[in-house]
Formats: sequence, C-alpha cells, structure tokens
Amino acid sequence: MKISLDPSTQSNYYDVSIHHLLLDAEIDFGKKLLFGTVEYKIQSARISEPLSHIILDTSYLDVKSASLNGTPVPFRVDERRDFLGNALHVVPPKPIPAIDIATLRISFSTTKECTAIQFLDPQQTIGGNAPYMFSQCQAIHARSMLPCQDTPSVKVPCTFHIRSKLPVIASGIPCGTRDFRDDSLVYMFEQPLGIPSYLISILSGDLASSSVGPRSTVYTEPDNIVACKFEFEHDMENFMKAAESLTTPYAWTRYDFVVLPPSFPYGGMENPNATFATPTLIAGDRSNVSVIAHELAHSWSGNLVTNESWQCFWLNEGMTVFLERKIIGRVQGEKYRQFDAIIGWGELKEAVELFGKDHEFTKLIVDLDGKDPDDAFSTIPYEKGFNFLYEIERVVGGPVVFEPFLSFYFRKFANSTVNEVKFKNALYEYFKPLGLSQALDSIDWDAWYYAPGMPPVTPQFDTTLADNCYKLADVWVNSAKTSENPDKFKQDDIEGWSAAQLSLFLDVLFEADAFPHNYIAAMDSAYSFSNSRNAEISFRYFKLVLKSKYKPLYERIADQVGKVGRMKFVRPTYRLLNQADHDLAVKTFRKYSNFYHKICAGLVKKDLGIAEN
Ligand code: BES
Ligand code: ZN
Repeated sequence: MKISLDPSTQSNYYDVSIHHLLLDAEIDFGKKLLFGTVEYKIQSARISEPLSHIILDTSYLDVKSASLNGTPVPFRVDERRDFLGNALHVVPPKPIPAIDIATLRISFSTTKECTAIQFLDPQQTIGGNAPYMFSQCQAIHARSMLPCQDTPSVKVPCTFHIRSKLPVIASGIPCGTRDFRDDSLVYMFEQPLGIPSYLISILSGDLASSSVGPRSTVYTEPDNIVACKFEFEHDMENFMKAAESLTTPYAWTRYDFVVLPPSFPYGGMENPNATFATPTLIAGDRSNVSVIAHELAHSWSGNLVTNESWQCFWLNEGMTVFLERKIIGRVQGEKYRQFDAIIGWGELKEAVELFGKDHEFTKLIVDLDGKDPDDAFSTIPYEKGFNFLYEIERVVGGPVVFEPFLSFYFRKFANSTVNEVKFKNALYEYFKPLGLSQALDSIDWDAWYYAPGMPPVTPQFDTTLADNCYKLADVWVNSAKTSENPDKFKQDDIEGWSAAQLSLFLDVLFEADAFPHNYIAAMDSAYSFSNSRNAEISFRYFKLVLKSKYKPLYERIADQVGKVGRMKFVRPTYRLLNQADHDLAVKTFRKYSNFYHKICAGLVKKDLGIAEN
C-alpha cells in the first residue's frame, strides 16, 4: 500500500519497520571509498501482514550482496531516478511473518560519485600531512553512503563500527576501539536514541581534542585546537544550561563537535554527539558562537523532535533559530536576541527577492514532489519559521506565557516526528486550557503555512543595537548621493562595534544602490573590511564590491572564494561575480571545483548556468 508521505524517498518505509542499524565499514583513503556492510533488524510495519518486499534508497552505491537471516537473497537495483537515486529491492523467498524480526544485511561500497562524502588530500588540510574525510548527509545524501530508508520520518538506534587509519568521529557516543591491524583500528560508537538517516555522520582525519565544557569536547586538526578551545569554552556550558532551562534535560549525554577543514559546505551540521562546524566560525573573538547555539538547539528541534519530511523543514530550522535566539537572549541579553532577529529579517527579504515573491520555495510548507530538497534550501524556512513562532509568542501574551509551551512540545514529541498539523494541534492542546484558543484563532494559519512571499505579519523588534548601524549607513548613502569626499570616514565611526553590528551596517548598504568606486575603496581604507578575520564581514563587503562592480578587488574575491567552501558565502559570491564578470566567475569555479564539496559544486554550477543537466 502506497501512502503519499515523504516525496523525497523511494523506500517503502511505511511497510518496513527498522529496529536497529549496524554500520560496519572501512574507510579506504587510497581509493577514496567507504565499504562494508549495513545490518538492519527489520519487521513488518503492519501487525497482521507479513513482510514480502523491502525497498531501500541508494545513490551511486555499488551494492555487492544481500542476505536475510544469514542466507543470501536476490536483490535488484532500479535505474537512477534523478536526485532520488536508485531504489534497491529485496524480495524475501518467503514473506517474513509479521511477528518476526529479521536480519537484513547488505554489503556495499561507495563510489567516486558519492555525494555525501568528501575525501581531502593532505594538502587540503591545515596540517598538510594526513588525508581527511567527512560526510554530509542532510538532506538526502545518506543514500549515497549506505543503503537506507532515507527519510526523516524514520528514526533508528544505531551502532557504528568504522575501520580507519586515522581517528574517527561518528554520530554516537564513542565506545573505544578494537582490532588493530594494518595500521588501522575499528572505532566504535553507540547511538541509543533513534536517529533519522540524515543525522548519520562519519569523519576521519588527524584530530586533536580539547575540553570546552563539562559535557563538551571540541575536535579539530592539531594546529587549530588552541584557537577552537578559546573560541567556544567560554559559552558552551552556558548555552547548554540555557537550552535545558527552555526545553527539557539534554537527552544525548555529551555535546561534542568537530571544526572541519574549510571545504565543509555548511556553517554547522547538527550530527548527534558530533556537530560538524565550519572553520569560518573561528574569528578569534567569539563573535560567531551563535552558530554553536544553533546546532546545540537542534539537539531538541530536529534531532529529538524531527520534521517528518523536508516539506516541513521549518519545524527543524525555524524552531531551531527561535531556540538559538532564546539562548542568546538568556546568555547575552534580550536586546541581542532582538538584534539577531533584525539581521534575520533582512536575510529573509533578500531570499524572497532572489526566488521571487510568488515562488513555491518562499512558502513555509513547500511541495517537494519531483524537486530536489537541496534546490529548495534557503534561509526562508529559518527566518519565516522564526517569525511565525515570534508572532505566536506575541499573540499568546509574550515570552512568559509562551516559553513553557516549548518544554511541553519537546516532551510530547520527543523521539518522534512532527508536521505542521501536529504542531498546530499541540499549540491548541497546550493553550486551550489556559483560555488562549481565541488568541490562536486570530492567527492566519493558511497565510503563514501556504502563502508565498514575506510573512503576513511584519514583526516589531527592539532596535537598540541596530540604531547606530542604520545611522552610519544613512550617512554613507547620503554622502555618496551628494558626492562628498569619502575621506571623512574613519575607523572611529565603528569603534567598539560588534561583528554583528558591522554585518547589519553592510546589509543595509547592500540594500541601497551601488556605490561609487571611491566610496568602496574608502570604506576599506577606513574600516579594513576586506581583511576582517570574521568571514561574515569580509563576505558582506565583497558582496558590496561586486554589486558596485569595483574591478580592482575582483581577483582578491576570486582568491577568497577558493579558500572557503561554506555555501552561505560561496554561492552568493559566485552569483554576484557571475553578474559582474561571467568569464571570471566560470574560470574561478573551474579552478577550485575540486576543492568544493560535491553538494556545493553542484549548486554553484546551477547558479552559474553551467550544469550539465
Ligand atoms: N541543518 C543545518 C544545515 C543543513 C540544512 C544541511 C539543510 C543540509 C541541508 C544546520 O543546522 C544549519 O542550519 N546551519 C546554518 C547555521 C545557522 C546558524 C543558521 C548554516 O550552515 O549556515
Ligand atoms: Zn539548523
């Protein structure tokens, strides 16, 4: 029976329950492959129906053999269906009785086309003397690393046994090593909580570690470890305590994270017990710690309570941004939460303009039938989702009334999945007894969920920390209009400003018309943006440079875009460079295409209009 649920999987997850996953695999740095077996404890999902057909997702995998309860079984791999990959069919010789739990074991290898794993040569690492590999499975790349039910609606406890010549991190609690041979060890991990496939992660490289809190260790290459410790140890446990006080006790025992080499395509990825983070967080002044607050918040929204398909991705990300900002509000002060929300609103406007205000992907609930979730990815579910929650908070009477709902929600849905209907029902369930159902009735649910474009309500934020940014931006815009001499701008203008304030200042300028070239140059002389240690700032300045078509810095930008692989920076830079100088954009991309992660390279190709299909 086919029920239309998650359009991003070909697996028959509604027919097959999985009780446990054991991944037993080896990393081959020479061949740049992962190979081994995955063993599933499976059972019919229907109490009274035997299980006669198992379909798993695969993508660019080489499936070698399959067995059921130790006996080989025939299998079939379908033709590739675009981004959905190849369905893998296993038909048991005799249907498995509904009460039986069977062991399905598949032996496989990844291939060169694998979209989940990036292998780095030693020269692509900081240390330069050992190779490195890491996975990135969200949204639907797990299927290119192992055969699986690649849908967030299925959550399975896991065991990972990974053989490697170098230390391994995986998304579970480390349980030691065993079986030393040929210079390699098996690294073992247990994940007792059910996790969706997109949270499976493996990483291996030359790693050092350092404690950054009573429950937290940061891992990174040895040369980077001191800087990482400094960047995070101040806030880590405070963030955890603030998050717990807003939600429920931390369920995953430890919160550890890895700071990766620069090609990591995201700011952070909330792999359980092993968040992966971009090295661009290391600014030397702790100014990017909110990304760790964000990934930590996913321990509740996303990892404990999971969106049931990528169509309601906002329940992962919007809720996480909401929690992230609550954490920042509690640790740094409410005006910082308000300020972050202002930056987010600006990013939302930019994203809506980029897609166009009627685009499907500007909706909170998106239709992904026939569409690749990577193409739908943008800041919209983050910021529209945040603003939706912010509005609900306002409507029910503010933080004091709303915050207790958060612990209710995480308790109610812990270890399961949610969609927009369950979310709305939970709100009514919680607020009705408090006499607040009329307040909820006043929300235009349909507009929030299904209308494209900007949200139906424009929020009010406290501008205390933003006012100076607006003021200085005004002076720049007006001076440029009246062609005043820009030499009057001096470092003093921004004395004591936080990186976030500089970011907002640059965002406001980006919204304005292109700047005269002497202004672009003067801005860098006065404020040294192009040399900022914080990539958030140099990147925003470069956007302004490209929008203003200031050629003298193009080579600098082309150089810079080849040094970081974080898509938040890389994609907009290429998009603007493409508008400013198409040939340089294409030439630069071709030069660095091997540096980028496949997910990033694929999307940049589409952005530049040079994708093969
Ligand atoms: N889960 C996301 C990253 C992600 C989303 C990977 C979709 C693949 C598909 C992660 O939690 C995230 O949101 N990262 C942000 C950081 C943040 C502070 C908004 C990023 O990478 O910039
Ligand atoms: Zn996130």
